[in-house]
Amino acid sequence: MNTPEDKTSKTLAELGITAPGQVDALFLEIQEHFDADSSKEFIEVLWKEFRDQWLGRKSGVLSRITDNWLKTASPDLKRSVGAALNRLRSHVEAKIEERRLSVEANEEQSALARERVDLSLPGVKRPIGSQHLIRQVFQQIEDIFVSIGFSVVEGPEIETPYYNFEALNIPEFHPVRDDMDTFYLELPKGAPSPLLLRTHTSPMQIRTMEKRQPPVRVIVPGKVYRRDNPDATHSFAFHQVEGLAVDTDITFCDFTGTIEYFVKQFFGPGVKTRFRPSYFPFTEPSVEFDVTCVFCGGSGVSASGGTCSKCKGAGWIELFGAGMVDPAVYGFVKYDPKKVSGFAFGIGIDRLAMLKYGIDDIQVFFQNDVRFLRQFP
Ligand code: FA5
Repeated sequence: MNTPEDKTSKTLAELGITAPGQVDALFLEIQEHFDADSSKEFIEVLWKEFRDQWLGRKSGVLSRITDNWLKTASPDLKRSVGAALNRLRSHVEAKIEERRLSVEANEEQSALARERVDLSLPGVKRPIGSQHLIRQVFQQIEDIFVSIGFSVVEGPEIETPYYNFEALNIPEFHPVRDDMDTFYLELPKGAPSPLLLRTHTSPMQIRTMEKRQPPVRVIVPGKVYRRDNPDATHSFAFHQVEGLAVDTDITFCDFTGTIEYFVKQFFGPGVKTRFRPSYFPFTEPSVEFDVTCVFCGGSGVSASGGTCSKCKGAGWIELFGAGMVDPAVYGFVKYDPKKVSGFAFGIGIDRLAMLKYGIDDIQVFFQNDVRFLRQFP
């Protein structure tokens, strides 16, 4: 019968308390119990239980004292029971509040410790990326042309038909447009001009000549788009570098010399080159430029003795189209065709990279497979 629960479930009469002195001793005993319990270490959950055990409205120790001791006390004892109960209540409430504050402070401390960021720990190392092979090839081409006096300019990927076709001497119903059957943008009604994804970098010839007077020597790296079905050498988005040189005295020899210089710098001195007649509406004469096949060394025969599959036995691979700027184009940019002459070329970068690095499928450039990308750090 030692716990406060045992004692407070009985009345004072049942406990044999009849004198005020006994009342004080009884309350002292209860308070000692309380003090002993309250000095234990509590975590927050246990502290709440402890609080309810003493102050709970229904079955807390103080409620039971009120019901079983105070309410049933004889008139002689009522005053001293009431006074002792008040003292005990103040003591219990003050102590419990003190404990609450210290439990909460401990909780906060441990939460802080849990959440503390250890700034001395090594950080997360993110692997440094590298330039895509296409970007590397762009850079190689830019370096070669910059070293012989060209500058690099860029232009919009969304073009008007005027720059993509008409100003390049490709009027609306010219059959060349069929090859470039392309991506037009959906525009709101009343838009001043249709817009399309440029099909080549050649529109920048016009934009450059509109802005600059000769001498002009620029290259234009960039993305272009065509409605071509994807296969090993075709993609609907690919890359070109346009070149344009216009001055008062540029000849076909300057043109072939520049192109050959570039190709030997890019592929190495062993490569052989050739020009074939071709047709572009914006150059006259026009040529296709070929190099000896880098896969079979120009023999047309593969290592296994069969026909080389890359050049299909020809020993030559087409690299790009080019030519002397057609005088009709000068009319669109208000240059005097009697005073100026020049050449232009448009190199397909993806195919150039495939040749240089022995890559047999253009699609790998767009798949972003790191096993491929890591081969070209
Ligand atoms: C042109 O685009 C002309 N603008 C080039 C030019 C510029 C001629 C200046 C004269 C003066 P062509 O359509 O041939 O030409 O394309 C040039 C190169 O782009 C091709 O030699 C080829 O390497 C590349 N190419 C064309 N279509 C694709 C495609 N679908 N996927 C990947 N590369 C392509």
